[in-house]
Order: sequence, then structure tokens, then C-alpha cells
Amino acid sequence: MNSQNQKNEINRRRFLQSGVKLAAAGIYLGMFGMPNLFGNVIMDKGAANIPDVKLNNGVKMPMLGFGTYGLRGEVCQQSVADAISVGYRLIDTAKVYGNEEAVGKAIKQSGIDRKQLFVTSKLWVDDAGYENAKKGFEETLTKLGLEYLDLYLIHRPRGDVKGSWKAMEELYAAGKIRAIGISNFDSEQLADLLSYAQVKPVVNQIETHAYFQQGNSYNLLKKHNVQMEAWAPFAEGRNGLFTDEVFAQIAKKYNKTIAQVNLRWHYQRGIVAIPRSSQKAHIVENLNIFDFKLNHEDISAIEKLDLNKTQFPEWS
Ligand SMILES: NC(=O)c1ccc[n+]([C@@H]2O[C@H](COP(=O)([O-])OP(=O)(O)OC[C@H]3O[C@@H](n4cnc5c(N)ncnc54)[C@H](OP(=O)(O)O)[C@@H]3O)[C@@H](O)[C@H]2O)c1
Repeated sequence: MNSQNQKNEINRRRFLQSGVKLAAAGIYLGMFGMPNLFGNVIMDKGAANIPDVKLNNGVKMPMLGFGTYGLRGEVCQQSVADAISVGYRLIDTAKVYGNEEAVGKAIKQSGIDRKQLFVTSKLWVDDAGYENAKKGFEETLTKLGLEYLDLYLIHRPRGDVKGSWKAMEELYAAGKIRAIGISNFDSEQLADLLSYAQVKPVVNQIETHAYFQQGNSYNLLKKHNVQMEAWAPFAEGRNGLFTDEVFAQIAKKYNKTIAQVNLRWHYQRGIVAIPRSSQKAHIVENLNIFDFKLNHEDISAIEKLDLNKTQFPEWS
């Protein structure tokens, strides 16, 4: 065994050891009627069993992933390593998050076959335009230490979007990116892109949570077969999401947590969600959403929470 393989093996053992401890805690809590945060997920690394969605170019994407906004350096590396170790395969980063190197290190450390991972990054507005986009992409790839990306998104519809898209189409054709998409595009910006795109975007990643359910985008994206992906699926806890009485009632009924009910709701809507956490217990908890089902009553109660407005006005 060479030294890299030895390191991977040591890391793998550490992950499994911490996993077993968390699983034991989960079973203990379950015995006392408390929400079982852990289920069976970490008893077996493969047990997460996250369903895939087939994108409009045939590439498969996990329906639940791990967000990394605001995570930096060692905290980021550890959180991403924890996420991969308990079964997440989709990792969402961006050049502007300043953490692509840390994400890349965690990926290497995981020892997971690259083909099993689904890595997303995003082209920042400073790199808009044909030449800049190509350069920005290469920087991203180098920082991540990867040969290709699974998904590359235009982070925001600013600057020379047409030039950026052309560069991304060429990188896609050259096999450097498996799928290309957009983020924060409204219906007009999407229609504009579709008017000249040779390659249709596979995904639009937009702010989506119970307080901003994005009904119009939801219908439009469905119509164009563009997968909707929710950023801030918990609204970062704004507007009291983690103490919301409606969610608390539903969570109690299923012996689940508010976070799990939220993620299950996104999943049942057919939306890919990428919750972020720096706490291993939350990282595990957020994965354990595939063993219960919300009914019509729950869903209509959640639909009534829609305020139909952003919870992040500072980013508009
Ligand atoms: N395309 C874009 O413009 C854009 C914009 C924003 C975000 N994003 C992407 O979307 C991802 C998700 O959005 P986000 O990070 O802004 O917010 P989020 O996932 O809605 O919320 C993250 C917050 O929820 C807490 N949390 C996570 N799991 C929890 C649990 N089980 N119980 C209680 N609290 C929990 C986290 O705290 P702890 O760390 O303490 O668990 C953290 O404070 C980002 O990380 C990023 O990858 C994209």
C-alpha cells in the first residue's frame, strides 16, 4: 500500500469510527422516543441511497447534496469530508466562496472514486465573457485539483452572459464539464438564454424554501425541462424557520426534525436541495429523509407558509 493509500485508509477508518458512535447515539435517542436523527444512514457508507434525477442531457444528479457557502479552510475541508463519509455525493461550491481548494482536499482525502462524486462549481460575475469564463473555469479546476466538473453554473446573470455561455458550451463539448447550467436567472433571463443557446441549461439554482416557494419559476422550469435546484433550502434559518410551529407539528407526527421535514418537502416537489452544515450531527440528520413521506395535508400546510418574497434582499 503506498503512502497515499495508507492515508486514505486511515481517514476511512476514522470516518467509520465516528459514524458508529453517531449511529449508536441515534439508536439511543430513538429508544427514548426522541426524533431519530441518524437512522441507518451511517451504519453503512453506501446506505444513504440518495435518489438521482436524470438531467435533460442524460447525466444523473443526486436529489440531495451538500452546500459549502460560508465554509472556509479546515472547517470546510472537515465538513465536506464528513459529508462524503456519510454518503453525500453532490458537493456544491463556487469560486466566490473562496473554498474550492479546501473542497478539493476533502475530495482527495475521502478516497472515493471520482466518478461517484458530482461536483458543482460556479462562474463568478468578475469572470463573465468568453475569454474570462475560460480562464475562470481553469482556475476553478486547478483549485479543486480535478480533471473535470460535473456541473458548472453561471453564478449570476451579470455581464456578458452570452460570451460566458459560449465558453461553457465549448468546455462542455470538450468533455471538461459533464453538464452546464445557470443560477439566479429569472424567467426573462432564462428566455433570453434559451433564444441563443446551442446547449440548453440543465439546472437553474435559485433561492427556494418554504417562505419563498418560487411557484412561477417552478412551473416554467418544469415546462422547459430544466431541473430546479434550491439554494438556502432552510432560508439559512431566517424568519424563524427552525422554530416554525407548522413545521414543528409535522416533524412531531413523523418523529423527525424540522430540518428533515423541510428537506423532504423539497424532495417531494422534485427539487434538488443542497443544505449546508458545519456540524456532523446536522450533516447526518439532513441525509435521513428517505424513510418517511409527507401527505397532502402536510404539503398544503407548508404551501400556506409562502411569503412569496426573498429572505435575502441584500443579494438582490
Ligand atoms: N447560487 C447562489 O447564488 C447561492 C446562494 C446561496 C447559497 N448557495 C448554495 O446553497 C447552499 C445552501 O444554502 P445556505 O448555505 O445559504 O443555507 P441553508 O442550507 O439554508 O442553511 C444553512 C444553515 O442551516 C443550519 N443547519 C443546517 N442543518 C441544520 C439542522 N439539521 N438543524 C438546524 N440547523 C441546521 C446551518 O448551521 P450549522 O452549520 O450549525 O448546522 C446553517 O446555519 C450553500 O451552502 C451554497 O452551496 C448558492
